[in-house]
Amino acid sequence: MTSLLPSLRSLLCAAVLAAPLLAAGQAKPTAKAISPDLFGIFFEDINYAADGGLYGELVQNRSFEYSPSDHGGWHPLTSWDYLHDGYAMGSVSVESAAPLHANNPHYVQLRVENPFQKGLGLKNNGFDGMALKAGEKYDFSLWARVKSGAAVPLLVQLRDKKDKVLAEITLSAQAAGWQQYRATFTAPAAEPEASLVVLATGKGVVDLDMVSLFPQKTFHNRPNGLRPDLAQVIADLKPKFVRFPGGCLAHGDGLDNMYDWKKTVGPVEQRVAQRNIWNYHQTAGLGYFEYFQFCEDIGAKALPVVPAGVSCQNSGGSWRIGGVGQQCIPLADMAAYTQDVLDLIEYANGPATSTWGAKRAAAGHPAPFNLEYVGIGNEDKITEGFEERFKMIYAAVHAKYPKMQVIGTVGPSPKGEDYDKGWTLAGQLNVPLVDEHYYEKPKWFLTNNRRYDTYDRKKPKVYLGEYASWGNTLFNAVAEAAYMTSLERNGDVVRLASYAPLLAKEGHTQWNPDLIYFNNSTVVPTVNYYVQQLFGQNQGTDYVAGVVAPPAGAVADTTVAASCVRDAKTGDVILKLVNASATAQPFQVDLSGLKGLNMAATRTVFTGDKDAKNTFASPNTVMPKTAAYKAKSRFSYEAQPYSLTVIRLRGKR
Ligand code: AHR
Repeated sequence: MTSLLPSLRSLLCAAVLAAPLLAAGQAKPTAKAISPDLFGIFFEDINYAADGGLYGELVQNRSFEYSPSDHGGWHPLTSWDYLHDGYAMGSVSVESAAPLHANNPHYVQLRVENPFQKGLGLKNNGFDGMALKAGEKYDFSLWARVKSGAAVPLLVQLRDKKDKVLAEITLSAQAAGWQQYRATFTAPAAEPEASLVVLATGKGVVDLDMVSLFPQKTFHNRPNGLRPDLAQVIADLKPKFVRFPGGCLAHGDGLDNMYDWKKTVGPVEQRVAQRNIWNYHQTAGLGYFEYFQFCEDIGAKALPVVPAGVSCQNSGGSWRIGGVGQQCIPLADMAAYTQDVLDLIEYANGPATSTWGAKRAAAGHPAPFNLEYVGIGNEDKITEGFEERFKMIYAAVHAKYPKMQVIGTVGPSPKGEDYDKGWTLAGQLNVPLVDEHYYEKPKWFLTNNRRYDTYDRKKPKVYLGEYASWGNTLFNAVAEAAYMTSLERNGDVVRLASYAPLLAKEGHTQWNPDLIYFNNSTVVPTVNYYVQQLFGQNQGTDYVAGVVAPPAGAVADTTVAASCVRDAKTGDVILKLVNASATAQPFQVDLSGLKGLNMAATRTVFTGDKDAKNTFASPNTVMPKTAAYKAKSRFSYEAQPYSLTVIRLRGKR
């Protein structure tokens, strides 16, 4: 049923672009096409979102590359304990001569002079332990090189929190050159804080690197894949796109710290690990291939953000004395850098016969990933250095890939110098979209509900790339919901929007609030998450004005908001009614101008106490409740205090 509103598109007119809620019965519904990609997600490796989070690897510091530059006091044996059995004699040392790969310069050497009974070696404690599930399989692997001539026997164990051995296997390292050894464990019991032990149990010298323990169960069973429960919670948002890898992580803390996509693809042991701008370490195990694959697996478009040839303006802690501020790639190196950006597009979209398409194919994906969007820059300071470099990159991308939806950047705030300069530059160059960012109080989101109503439709379109109200209470979530109705109403000019940040690990959170909190065993979607989910699962292709009217006399009241969208594919019409006030509010709904609708609808209500939160102790404090709902052609709907209601009417198919 696609003829629900046969003349919807023809009814497009400028007057409805900024149409406020109209009194029911006063206007015929008018519709305009809105972005089919409106609500997506922002993924950044902040708060241990990737290593120790979404990335499935259980061993922390598997390649012995941790260093004090990642985090004060860290070193190549961080997260590893030295073990020796009784009177065993020998040593463990960190070496760098003839490494496994130049990109992976450190490894450990176990030298056993007297193994006593079980020799000596190392224990890895994972990221706050390793959560094992009873009966599930875990792939163990390591690279080894024997230095002593004779083979060196290795004992590999899974241990529980009290160091009791849960399972063990033996291997024999034999090769005089680097070689990978693999084995599979089955966890005999659930253990939330397991560890992995590798012991050399015979006399000899052996080098070890890339010690890995990976659950076989990953999201969509991808090798080198993602933690399934976390990935599924993300997938359940039904995002239309995924932005990655940041955030500030994208442009980095100084030139050496910029996220270089080329260093994150290929065999994991050859990727370049580096300091994470958020004061820890990134292995790049979750790299560009895995990001693209994840997008495809959840049916979302990829939206990579590359540095605009400049680093974060806060590089070196520029707000402190001695900070260095924004660093620019020397102009002499910009041609090579620009080529890297073009190569990224070829990696995603080029035929398997192209140089970079062939690398994608070698990773297991001969078909293109069909990249449509690329962001250049992340809330950068708009300096001369930035402008010069942005222009170079944009011109090259636009010339080679004229259909690519390039996204420019307009600073970290909803207004101000960088915002103004960024918009001016984007307008001059006719950049398709710009990336706005803002984190504000809930009241700001309520009172700025009309922000985009007056945006010039002829200028670049908006990607609201980072936004959140400061907090994880229901009031925050409902304020965000009210704002999201305005994004739908302005879905012709706001083409994409993503809440930020997405993930945060308990005990390792650098930024609050976040959308989803987790530890090794539990995932806690916040109340804000459920708002994102309800909008994500109920996206439309057209905004329909003149269907929902606010409570009488409440036109100027910013605590109520509503939207009506239609999905052209199914003919479904979706109403979203938001009440961010302390008292119930009646909305008037007039569906009489919309034909072909089934009045046997579903209604989801999301409500609770103003300050309610979902927490580890109480993860389900506020949950959406869905039930059948009998709608009428005209009806009054009383929205509960602090609530979001979604009413979905099916198109008659
Ligand atoms: O979302 C967290 C951070 O906020 C992002 O890394 C940065 O772009 C913004 O300042």
